[in-house]
Amino acid sequence: MAGYAPSVHNTQPWRWRISGDGMDLMADRDRQLTIADPQGRLLTISCGAALHHATIALAAEGWQAKVRLLDGPDHLARVTLGPRIEATVEVTAEMMRHLQAIRVRHTDRRPVADTPITAETVDVLRDAAAAYGIDIHLLTADQVIELGAASARADRIELLDPQQRDELTYWIGGDRPEGTGIPDSALTEEPTGGPIPGRDFVRAGTLPTAAGTDRAASYVVLFGMGDEPQDWLRAGEALSACWLAATESGVSVLPFSAVIEVPATREVLRRLLSSIGYPYLVLRLGIAPADRPGPPHTPRLPAKQLIEIS
Ligand SMILES: Cc1cc2nc3c(=O)[nH]c(=O)nc-3n(C[C@H](O)[C@H](O)[C@H](O)COP(=O)(O)O)c2cc1C
Repeated sequence: MAGYAPSVHNTQPWRWRISGDGMDLMADRDRQLTIADPQGRLLTISCGAALHHATIALAAEGWQAKVRLLDGPDHLARVTLGPRIEATVEVTAEMMRHLQAIRVRHTDRRPVADTPITAETVDVLRDAAAAYGIDIHLLTADQVIELGAASARADRIELLDPQQRDELTYWIGGDRPEGTGIPDSALTEEPTGGPIPGRDFVRAGTLPTAAGTDRAASYVVLFGMGDEPQDWLRAGEALSACWLAATESGVSVLPFSAVIEVPATREVLRRLLSSIGYPYLVLRLGIAPADRPGPPHTPRLPAKQLIEIS
C-alpha cells in the first residue's frame, strides 16, 4: 500500500527492509533526481509520503504504527507495531475511508473546474498537516501572481540546462525503469495556462485537456520550521495526510516542485512566507473537471522489488 504513494516524477525512491519486530524505510539513491534534487529534499518528501501511507495501511489492519525518524542519511525511519487500535464502528469506517483514498488518489494536471474549494476544506487540510508539525499557507491573489512568475522562471532555468532537461525527459521517456515515471496518459495534450502554469514536461501527453483557466484554483505552500532531512520527511507525511484528506473531500491536488528545486525561486517562496519558515512544496487545490474521465493510474514498481525480508 505504501507503494501507491506519490513521488517526484514517480521515481518511487524508497525501499523497505523488514526485520525483527519492525520495518525500516530506506532512501533509494539510484532513483534520486541528482541534478534537480541534489540534496534529496524531494526524494525525502516522497519517502515521507510512503511512510504515511504505510501507517494508514497498518491502522486499517488494526495496528497503531510507532514511527522513529532517521538513523542515517539513507535509513529514514523505523516503523514498529504499537498497541492494537480499538475497533469501534466509527474508527473502522474512518480507516477504510483512508485506505480507499490511497487507491483512488492520483495527480490530475488538467485545469480545475470553476467552482472554488471552501475555506473549511483548507482548514481540514491544515489540520491534517498540523498533525505532523507542518503548516499550510494559503496564498493571497498578489502572492499567486508573484509565485506564477517565479514558477515560470524556475521552469525556464531548468529547461535551459541540458542536464536538467535530460533528467526530466528520462523519467517521462521510454528508457525509464519499467513501473516508474510519468506516462503520456498522465500528461495533458496541451499546455495548461492559469496563474501558475503547470510544470513544462517538454512534450505533450495524451490526456485530453479540459477547457478551463484555473481561475477558481487555490494555491497553498506546505512549510515548516526547519530545512533538514527530518523536516522533509515530516513534510512528506503531511503531504500524504493532506492529499488523502483532499481525496476524501473530492478535492484535486497538484504539486508544483520546480519552484522548490531552483534555489533562487525557493528563496522567493521563502520571502512570500515572510521568512517565518521553509517552503517544501506548492500545491494547487481545486475541483477536478467532471465532464471527462481523469487520467488513469500511473505505474508502480512491484512490491517484491521494494521489500526485503531478513
Ligand atoms: C515531492 C513531489 C513533487 C512533485 N512535483 C510535481 C511537479 O512539479 N509537477 C507535477 O506535475 N507533478 C508533480 N508531482 C506529482 C508526481 O509526478 C506524481 O505523484 C507521480 O507521477 C505519481 O503519480 P500519481 O500521483 O498519479 O500516483 C510531485 C509529487 C511529489 C511527491
